[in-house]
Amino acid sequence: MTRLTVNNQPVEYRLAPDTPLLFALRDASNLTGTKYGCGSGDCGACTVDVDGRAVRSCTVAIGELEGTFVTTIEGLSRDRNHPVQQALLAANVVQCGYCIPGIVMTAQALLHANRSPSEDDVRRAITNLCRCGIYPRLTDAILTAAAVARGDETLDAVAPPDIDPADAARTVPALAPPPRR
Ligand code: FES
Repeated sequence: MTRLTVNNQPVEYRLAPDTPLLFALRDASNLTGTKYGCGSGDCGACTVDVDGRAVRSCTVAIGELEGTFVTTIEGLSRDRNHPVQQALLAANVVQCGYCIPGIVMTAQALLHANRSPSEDDVRRAITNLCRCGIYPRLTDAILTAAAVARGDETLDAVAPPDIDPADAARTVPALAPPPRR
């Protein structure tokens, strides 16, 4: 049995310790926002936050993560109003969307580590693969998200599908640190 905290909930996985975190999240926790792409650590579609770091969940076994705090795209924000999410929506970055949860989780970890990333910092951090080729808009949106998180810029909140505009219009919050013990 492996004990983790996933999206602020204590979880005990009764799975083999070598089960990839990706499979535990998707198949045992039904957190299907984390995507399976290559399964070999190359594409980044499966990226989640583990103790504040962006981790490709297909490459790490749950047995190595005992006691850690995992945040998936479902746990990042209550109303999809994290600055990275809002900036991607505002700039119409998303096309097919398959890679986006992994990109958002990578970007939010970058902004926790570096509040004022340069364009090169973003390019170096976001090594996720996107077959739609959104990279120029994506880089700009992440720089915007950083500015919003610092309070240097504001965004008109954009309601994603199925979100009540009143919820989406709430103030975009400053970055909060990922949950800790
Ligand atoms: Fe994990 Fe591609 S599915 S990096």
